[in-house]
Amino acid sequence: MGRSALRLREKSRIREYSAPRFYEIAFDLNRKGEVDFLVHCFKRFSPRRVRSVVDIACGTGPHLMRLADRGYAMSGLDLSPRNIEFLGRRLAANGHEGELVVGDMTNFRLARPVDAAICMQDSQGHLLTNDQLVAHLKSVARCLKRGGLYVFDRYMASSWTNPARRWSWSKRRGRLIVRASFSALNDVDPVSQVFRERMTLEAIENGTRRLYRQNHLSRMVFPQELKALVELAGGFEFVQWFFGFKPWQVLERSRHPIIMVVVLRKK
Ligand SMILES: C[S@@+](CC[C@H](N)C(=O)[O-])C[C@H]1O[C@@H](n2cnc3c(N)ncnc32)[C@H](O)[C@@H]1O
Repeated sequence: MGRSALRLREKSRIREYSAPRFYEIAFDLNRKGEVDFLVHCFKRFSPRRVRSVVDIACGTGPHLMRLADRGYAMSGLDLSPRNIEFLGRRLAANGHEGELVVGDMTNFRLARPVDAAICMQDSQGHLLTNDQLVAHLKSVARCLKRGGLYVFDRYMASSWTNPARRWSWSKRRGRLIVRASFSALNDVDPVSQVFRERMTLEAIENGTRRLYRQNHLSRMVFPQELKALVELAGGFEFVQWFFGFKPWQVLERSRHPIIMVVVLRKK
């Protein structure tokens, strides 16, 4: 693993996210803009200079890598050993070190507390009950220093009739083309708030076509419910929320928001 400190603490219980190379290319979307927003939050809302950050459910590390490039000391946690191995190689190839952990975001610890935590691309949606979300918030609070920030994004329903959203796009890197389609908020169960996410990655490289499909459950929380769960978990004060990664677009003043980006501060 070169210089990156890879620690496999727990075997994955899921087989999702097992095509990290294609995923990383397909989802290399607005990452720079998102990282600019995160850095803005660190500067605007943290009482101390943010130097160390943990990326929770870091996946293939689009934010983690960019923050490491900007000089932050990074740790990453993900349930998928394949993602963590892939990211370990990326970190080492770019001369960075970091604590990478295979683990569950509802119950984890870091070697040292950090100044900020992030959880991006609606990864919290993988927590399918309020109990899991509260356990997660408690775990995150434990790994932060006092005043530490927690920034995360969540999909939200902007319509009561048909909240489902679908996107299709393609990306090329060298000789590899990845055609992606992704849909969220399908078949929302009105009681559990659980819905289905579907992802297809079609990779074409040197005349060979590979198809990767993933279909999993996710869950949405309503904004006011989220605030109440933060209170219930304890440990955090609410700082601000936004529609998307735009510091001027505060959630209450946004029309038809489909993503809320939330900033919490450890008490
Ligand atoms: C939508 S991907 C996002 C990855 C990355 N944050 C990004 O922005 O590209 C969700 C990630 O959550 C991870 N994951 C799912 N359930 C998890 C859990 N209980 N604990 C930690 N990671 C989990 C998956 O392995 C996957 O890498």
